[in-house]
Amino acid sequence: MIRKLSLLNSRSKYYIYVGGALWILFILFFINRNLSDNLASANNGNDYSIYNEYDNYEYEIEDTPPKLPQHPERNLTELSIKNHTTYLKIIDHMLHNQTKPQNDINSEIYNTIFDNHDVDTVLGTLSFTQRCDLYFKNVFADNVNWFFSPDKNYDVKFNTDEYKEYMEINEERFKEEFKPKLKKLKNGEKNKAYQNFLHDKYRDYMNPRIDQDIINQLTMFRIFNKCYITNDEVSQINQMDNFITTQQKLVHEENPKPESLQLTEKESLVDLMTSKSATFENRMYPWLSKEYPVYQRYTGKVYNEPPNYHDILKDPFQKTSKQIKSSNQLPNQPFLQKFKNKCNGKGIVLSIANKYVEYTVQLIHLLRALDNRLPIQIVYYDDVSEESKRKIVTAAQEDFKTLPESFQKVSHFFDSDYLDKNSKGLRPQEVWFVNAYNAIHKNYRGKFERFGNKLLATIFTSFDEFMLIDADTVMIQPPEYFFNLEQYKETGAYFFKDRTVNRRPTTDGVYMEKMAPATIDSIMFDIPIMTNYTRSREFFKGLQHYMESGLVMLNKNIHLNSILMISQINFFKPITGKVYGEKELFWLGFAMNGDENYYFDTNFAAAVGHITPPDDRIRDDGSPHHSQEICSPHPGHVSGEDNHTLLWINSGFRFCHQADEVDFEQEAEKKTRFKFLKDAEAFKKYYYEPLRISHAIVPPLDEKLENRKNNEQEPENGWFWEYDYCRRHTLCGYSRIGGKQKLATDKDNTLEGLLVTYNDDEIALFNYLGDIWVGME
Ligand SMILES: *[C@@H]1O[C@H](CO)[C@@H](O)[C@H](O)[C@H]1NC(C)=O
Ligand SMILES: *[C@@H]1O[C@H](CO)[C@@H](O)[C@H](O)[C@H]1NC(C)=O
Ligand SMILES: *[C@@H]1O[C@H](CO)[C@@H](O)[C@H](O)[C@H]1NC(C)=O
Ligand SMILES: *[C@@H]1O[C@H](CO)[C@@H](O)[C@H](O)[C@H]1NC(C)=O
Ligand SMILES: *[C@@H]1O[C@H](CO)[C@@H](O)[C@H](O)[C@H]1NC(C)=O
Repeated sequence: MIRKLSLLNSRSKYYIYVGGALWILFILFFINRNLSDNLASANNGNDYSIYNEYDNYEYEIEDTPPKLPQHPERNLTELSIKNHTTYLKIIDHMLHNQTKPQNDINSEIYNTIFDNHDVDTVLGTLSFTQRCDLYFKNVFADNVNWFFSPDKNYDVKFNTDEYKEYMEINEERFKEEFKPKLKKLKNGEKNKAYQNFLHDKYRDYMNPRIDQDIINQLTMFRIFNKCYITNDEVSQINQMDNFITTQQKLVHEENPKPESLQLTEKESLVDLMTSKSATFENRMYPWLSKEYPVYQRYTGKVYNEPPNYHDILKDPFQKTSKQIKSSNQLPNQPFLQKFKNKCNGKGIVLSIANKYVEYTVQLIHLLRALDNRLPIQIVYYDDVSEESKRKIVTAAQEDFKTLPESFQKVSHFFDSDYLDKNSKGLRPQEVWFVNAYNAIHKNYRGKFERFGNKLLATIFTSFDEFMLIDADTVMIQPPEYFFNLEQYKETGAYFFKDRTVNRRPTTDGVYMEKMAPATIDSIMFDIPIMTNYTRSREFFKGLQHYMESGLVMLNKNIHLNSILMISQINFFKPITGKVYGEKELFWLGFAMNGDENYYFDTNFAAAVGHITPPDDRIRDDGSPHHSQEICSPHPGHVSGEDNHTLLWINSGFRFCHQADEVDFEQEAEKKTRFKFLKDAEAFKKYYYEPLRISHAIVPPLDEKLENRKNNEQEPENGWFWEYDYCRRHTLCGYSRIGGKQKLATDKDNTLEGLLVTYNDDEIALFNYLGDIWVGME
């Protein structure tokens, strides 16, 4: 808890790379010459390009985007090289220790590429940049107007021409197939059953096509980002050099002289792709306006591009550095690349709307009590009023000298200057407002309500490294503690797990796996396939909620492309329809980007509060349970590093976040929990006061997510949803599940969880922070 100034040193893992803009210019020049001019080109010496259309694209989408076909009505194609010796040899070399994907569905663009070009040519002669170029030539060769449509609807519909057409071709066959079923049906049911049968047939036909369509697009994002956004990063450049060299050596062992690439006529028409990557970016990210958000400091000063925190705050902790092959002078540099290279520093990011201003004020009070010295960016979407900003700035900057009585018990934990910051009391906070509204293209502004806001915050914060939190997230440790977590420093992405409450069909996991990179992505672009690191997570076994996204640690320098992927998958209803809000999108976005360099704290979320007195829950024979119980509306997060430290909780710090909406008379009448609260008045007082924490329970989870039935009246499951308290927000967690079973010969199936007991000092600190957050005297 005690902050040490030593945080300021030895944090600079990064070293400054001074590169020349000429390098990139040279590469671009080189590619143009090689792929566009030197090779067979159908439009040599002709100024006309079909891409003139495409250059003007930016203006075209000012109105409504062109209508796209509802469904990809076409036959699916296949990768033809799956048995090619070179291909098999490279797979064996690259992936032989890994479990191959079960559903290795690749983008169809590869199918076209390898229908037209020899594997040995593509893998044995093309550089990374040339592969990028070839890939995107093929994207546009078929459809010059291709662009990603965030509006696309993937529902299977039955009142369409496509459906009629499909049935015209196939209905005779289906009728025959249905005949045997007819006998078992009553007359009144026949028609309906037949219609359902036809719908199922059509779904079976459409679903693989829809999946393929989404896979095509996700593949495009992964490759575009790697090819044109992070292609200036030294670490990537070095890694790709290595990758290509090794691969070409392998090809040359099979085929010492692979033929050089001959573009097809269609491919050669698609010109100058790489040097136009900024225009090209419009196609990939039509929802970006390519304007920076507006960054406004609490003083009112406005910055129209990412502010340089090291200069403004004179804080060495804000010095983050990038290893970039500098290309600032390039006229066609993609916006996202420019933006990424301007990002700097580290801090706290909060995305809010007007209605969360009260929580934000309380959170800022808490940050002052935690002696936080990192800047805070509040990212919003044009919906935070001046009045609200004033409230937040006041909370951050006004004198804060009168502390709750509970401070007496904890004052000795803090540095001597804890209360004496420019005589303002608790340390004032460096608050910034970031309005993301202008950064979104006006056609797509409606797409980012509610959950989308948080994803925008990950993109538009100008910090390289940040802690992303909700307004009702409550940190129990200072923010710097999180930045210093060993696994955060190692991976640059630290996530927390949710309560292990509900189940989902395992087909959801199969689906998500399908959306992850294919083997050919790995072979062409060194984008790794999913491994057991991701696949063995309980989500794939059928756990409904895996991630708790109320606090997420991210380093944009390492993970920008995965962060972009998170926002892009948010547009796909078949994906978002399987998860609640944005919760799971973080790690799924990583997985779909082929980025497994993330870490989850090992503990699932805990129940935090007080243990239910054993006498309040006795078994039928009058004896107390073996298991302990905590019923609480708050999930908490106990550090997996020591299985003890309470890191953060959510749903604010009041006992009942929803206290304003509770019918106290009604809840007091139930008398199943919180038996020490005798009447409505007692409930009301308790609900409005801070949550008091003496214990935490991380309930156990059966490996196969099965119930542990037992004959001892012990819980079968780690969690019980107690609907009757705090307006359905109370959950009870158990320290152990299972027990002796019916037959004496059956094994005792007890499974222990984690029960943490906090000492008086820790409890005193929780009390102080709770009092600060709620605003107790
Ligand atoms: C799709 O495949 C079927 C059967 O192989 C064939 O009859 C049909 O012509 C194909 N359609 C297209 C658009 O290629
Ligand atoms: C590869 O070979 C297997 C068996 O040898 C065969 O079943 C499969 O159809 C072949 N695949 C391709 C794409 O040629
Ligand atoms: C694969 O496994 C072998 C031994 O089973 C090991 O020697 C080799 O280093 C591993 N390769 C990779 C790429 O992990
Ligand atoms: C990954 O998990 C699967 C299924 O549990 C297992 O069969 C396989 O051996 C594992 N692969 C590795 C590389 O550990
Ligand atoms: C924390 O507890 C889990 C089981 O609940 C155990 O597997 C793990 O090793 C423990 N970690 C530490 C650091 O004690």
